[in-house]
Amino acid sequence: MLGEKCVELLSHSHTVIASDLGEKLLYSNSVLYKIINITDEEAVLSYIRELKPDVVINCAAYTDVDGAEKFKDLAWNVNVNGVKNLVSAVNPIGCHLIHLSSDYVFDGSDGPYTEEDETNPVNYYGETKLASEVVLKESEVPWTIIRTNVLFGNSHFQEASFVYWVIKKIKNHEIICIVNDQFSNPTWVDGLAQAIKVIIDKKAYGLYHYGGLDYVDRFGFALEITAIFSLDPTLIRSITTRALGQLAKRPYKSGLVNDKIKKELDVKVFTIKEALNAMKGTKW
Ligand SMILES: NC(=O)c1ccc[n+]([C@@H]2O[C@H](COP(=O)([O-])OP(=O)(O)OC[C@H]3O[C@@H](n4cnc5c(N)ncnc54)[C@H](OP(=O)(O)O)[C@@H]3O)[C@@H](O)[C@H]2O)c1
Repeated sequence: MLGEKCVELLSHSHTVIASDLGEKLLYSNSVLYKIINITDEEAVLSYIRELKPDVVINCAAYTDVDGAEKFKDLAWNVNVNGVKNLVSAVNPIGCHLIHLSSDYVFDGSDGPYTEEDETNPVNYYGETKLASEVVLKESEVPWTIIRTNVLFGNSHFQEASFVYWVIKKIKNHEIICIVNDQFSNPTWVDGLAQAIKVIIDKKAYGLYHYGGLDYVDRFGFALEITAIFSLDPTLIRSITTRALGQLAKRPYKSGLVNDKIKKELDVKVFTIKEALNAMKGTKW
């Protein structure tokens, strides 16, 4: 979802080379595309050394939070070893490595969190994301880590989108149960892609948090979706995390404080309403 947005936005101003696991589906012919598995050390090394990019943006990850509890080796391999491979590849080139992490590095006892707050992941996905940060921090490469949370936006891969899922279910007149005790500041993926462009242009290194302007629980977020897209809110039932019984533990009061990135880099941060209205006005 984020990779797609970065390619869309940055290809207007930069030469972008996209890569992912599957066949090229999305991009115009002006965007070079290559299938790369970031766990394949040799492939990552030889391609990056051949291209000698100025910047590498790592949007690739194993992002299934419950799946990570079951498939720990896979989650670690993609989220940690994959990042090690990127670091080894960019190291001799000295290019800027931008990496995405998550608010799930925190335990959710008293969020939203600043960059200075202590990490303490409560699930395996969060452990892998925290370990990926350590790989960068211990490296010699110029790095930026951006922690974000609950990404949403238009995507060609609509199954990845919470907004699309809510809309689809309600249009099908299905009742959906959404948790009312997991708090975050949902993040419009277009805004994050814009922030990444600023980070590239200003050569901003270090750790930054980027999330949306509204701090809400997931149920409240779903109700905002029904309001903007004129859907029946009575089909949404609120449920506790405990009753839902998700496999992985979740941080309850999570989310990210945006102050540092706003102050230092003057990036724009969006409300849920602004983002949903923009999504509504765009073809997807
Ligand atoms: N989505 C969120 O709410 C959220 C919240 C906090 C942080 N983040 C972080 O933000 C970043 C972007 O998230 P996103 O939502 O855009 O993720 P996404 O839509 O799940 O995209 C991740 C991409 O990585 C690819 N991938 C998986 N394993 C790979 C491998 N071994 N080699 C190369 N590519 C691989 C996936 O391909 P397949 O689809 O084929 O597996 C997918 O295209 C991630 O680092 C994520 O941890 C996301």
